[in-house]
Amino acid sequence: MFEFGDIRFRPIEKDDLKTLHRWENDFELIMYSRSKPINFVNMTQLEKLYEEWVKDKKHLRFIVELRTHAKEALGIARLQLGTWGNVRTADVGTYIGKKALWGKGLGQQITVALLEIAFNQLNADRCEAWSVEFNRRAHKSLEACGFKKYGAARQVAFVNGRKWDGYHFDILRDEYLPMRMELLEQTLNEKTEEYLQKHCPALSS
Ligand SMILES: CC(C)(COP(=O)(O)OP(=O)(O)OC[C@H]1O[C@@H](n2cnc3c(N)ncnc32)[C@H](O)[C@@H]1OP(=O)(O)O)[C@@H](O)C(=O)NCCC(=O)NCCS
Repeated sequence: MFEFGDIRFRPIEKDDLKTLHRWENDFELIMYSRSKPINFVNMTQLEKLYEEWVKDKKHLRFIVELRTHAKEALGIARLQLGTWGNVRTADVGTYIGKKALWGKGLGQQITVALLEIAFNQLNADRCEAWSVEFNRRAHKSLEACGFKKYGAARQVAFVNGRKWDGYHFDILRDEYLPMRMELLEQTLNEKTEEYLQKHCPALSS
């Protein structure tokens, strides 16, 4: 388990597949997260995917839950570590399945937790994320965590009657470290000290 402020990352269990089945077939949610809102997935397909996830060592997938509501999934977070030359890049992503919780700062908390895992546990050199042009909420949430838009793939998605670009965002380790304490304090508030004591004892007061 990885606890970060109000949230906890834990492994995806078979019991979570029912919840994932609901989310992965939610038109609006999938429109934003994958920009393929009509690509529904049935339980058999999901079970097969789950068997692949279990074997996949490079792609970490987590259920996100509130620490106050253990066993009640609120979304998922994922991180895939890859190496190109000598540079280690973590591709990160998340969605909040409980739509009533959108826009309340949880996305920022989840993304900073992913950055902490990438830079503080996996020794990544950079992190990147992808988001479709119309997903303003995701762009703002990523930018609030220090990500910068570095390019756009033109017209890669066709949704709701038109083509959209796909935006690429990244953040370098060298950019993250100087802003780290500010981001931790911004997302963790009074839980900052608790986190530092557990994960970076040298930095706690
Ligand atoms: C994207 C997602 C993870 C962001 O998490 P969140 O908790 O909703 O977002 P946050 O509260 O951290 O930040 C949202 C930001 O967008 C702004 N915002 C909220 N609603 C918005 C809207 N409808 N349009 C534009 N901006 C919006 C907020 O003001 C905030 O910006 P600020 O930090 O500058 O104040 C979440 O909304 C989600 O799961 N969406 C559906 C799936 C998805 O898009 N996944 C990401 C794919 S890249």
